[in-house]
Amino acid sequence: MIEIVVKAGQADKQSDDAVVIPLLKGSEMTLSGHALQKVTDQALPSFLAKCDSTGKYGESKTLYGVPGSLADRIVVLGCGEEKLLSLHKLRILAAKIARELDAGGATHVSLCLSELNVGETSVADKVQAIAEGVWLGLYSFDKYQTKKELNERRLQKVTVMIEAGQDLTSAQRAVELAQAIAAGTNFARDLGNEPGNICTPAYLGEQALRLSHAQLNVTVMDKKAIEKAGFTALLAVNQGSAKEPRFIVMKYEGGKAGDAPIALVGKGLTFDAGGISIKPGTQMDEMKFDMCGSAAVLGIFKAVTALNLPVNLLGVIPSTENLLGSAAYKPGDIITSYKGVTIEILNTDAEGRVILSDALAYAAEQKPAEIIDFATLTGACVVALGGQASGLLGTDKGLKEALKVSGDYAHDRVWELPLFEEYQEQIKSEIADIKNTGGKEAGSITAACFLSRFVDDLPWAHLDIAGTAWNMKGSDISAKGATGAGVRLVMDYLIKKVDV
Ligand code: BES
Ligand code: MN
Ligand code: ZN
Repeated sequence: MIEIVVKAGQADKQSDDAVVIPLLKGSEMTLSGHALQKVTDQALPSFLAKCDSTGKYGESKTLYGVPGSLADRIVVLGCGEEKLLSLHKLRILAAKIARELDAGGATHVSLCLSELNVGETSVADKVQAIAEGVWLGLYSFDKYQTKKELNERRLQKVTVMIEAGQDLTSAQRAVELAQAIAAGTNFARDLGNEPGNICTPAYLGEQALRLSHAQLNVTVMDKKAIEKAGFTALLAVNQGSAKEPRFIVMKYEGGKAGDAPIALVGKGLTFDAGGISIKPGTQMDEMKFDMCGSAAVLGIFKAVTALNLPVNLLGVIPSTENLLGSAAYKPGDIITSYKGVTIEILNTDAEGRVILSDALAYAAEQKPAEIIDFATLTGACVVALGGQASGLLGTDKGLKEALKVSGDYAHDRVWELPLFEEYQEQIKSEIADIKNTGGKEAGSITAACFLSRFVDDLPWAHLDIAGTAWNMKGSDISAKGATGAGVRLVMDYLIKKVDV
């Protein structure tokens, strides 16, 4: 990732390749515009008029050779109406302008965007959003494109300007937070984007081990250890695959010794063909993303260790492929899970809940303070919410409300679906304790009902990231492919919790 620093001072003193200043709707300049206006001998408005710059949100104009300017170019970035701005709109503006500057060959640039009034937000909040936008916006996954020069980054250093006299220390801390969160998100994106032949359960295990750290202990169980531990539901799904499963356990102790950890559980299905209940061929390639829940967990651990957050965490990742080998588990099979709950398999494509049953039961046994799970669990969630929000279900009101607040703040949003008792009817089995599908209706809810059977009475929240974990069109702050959904959400949740 490129370097980002904060500096308190004025736009007219910056001698970079480019200095980016905001322009509000109606061609209204802000602080940096006025400062440049002075040193450029009042030339700015006529330059702006010449290039027909109106301040429309997202529209940028580059002014070359403005006399008196120390920077090679002044980039005027339309920010629309100030009262309509939000932290996320600021994040998008930063992402967009960073990509444009990079494509235009600028190497050192200054951004004067924190001078915008964004509701009641502090300078640090704005600096964090800007830095996140730059780092998230510049992300690309191009390691398999062998013509390197096509993708080379030219942008090297971004200076985020704040006003002289504003709190530099808190702005610098904001950049640190943004860096850890963006690196965690981009790591989750990388894992998601890796193809299924590379990102196997063993690969996820290796990636987890690489995160090991003074406060972070990582254990990766191979098939033998999984058999010994008795993670039978994971083994059942793994039967159709020639690749060994993995069960990853991560313990981070940044908080008080003995404090119950927050458990983060992530679905690590490295390729989901559906098994014997095979999926249709269209877009089946996208099922390499079925491990994005585990990628979110790994991204969060990466960010938390970078920040040394004072919190205790337990990470649990069950990982396998779901394929159709001759030993594959079949519709009609009954599995006795790790917890002892018997599961009638009606559809082998509802495998996520099956492997999560062992992971959640294991996590619950460790007596965590609460459990949050991340899973690309149901197509029904994509139908219900599309790509704009992850499904949120769970048993603990306080936890759910806090996740909603963080989701809105970080713009990694969630929307709650009900987990009414009555839905549990749908997963009752005639011959086992529960069945792994609940019929046509309320598919995301019945999947969560299934999970709820394995978390005891612990506070628990389930995030169905099926619609948000990847985006084949790309979005304002995310390239095509994995988005890193869940990382910003839970990082904000943890940061607010420990109040650093
Ligand atoms: N990984 C899929 C869910 C999924 C589908 C995520 C499409 C993103 C896009 C999951 O394992 C699955 O196949 N679920 C089934 C469950 C059904 C058989 C009850 C589904 O949603 O169709
Ligand atoms: Mn499936
Ligand atoms: Zn799946």
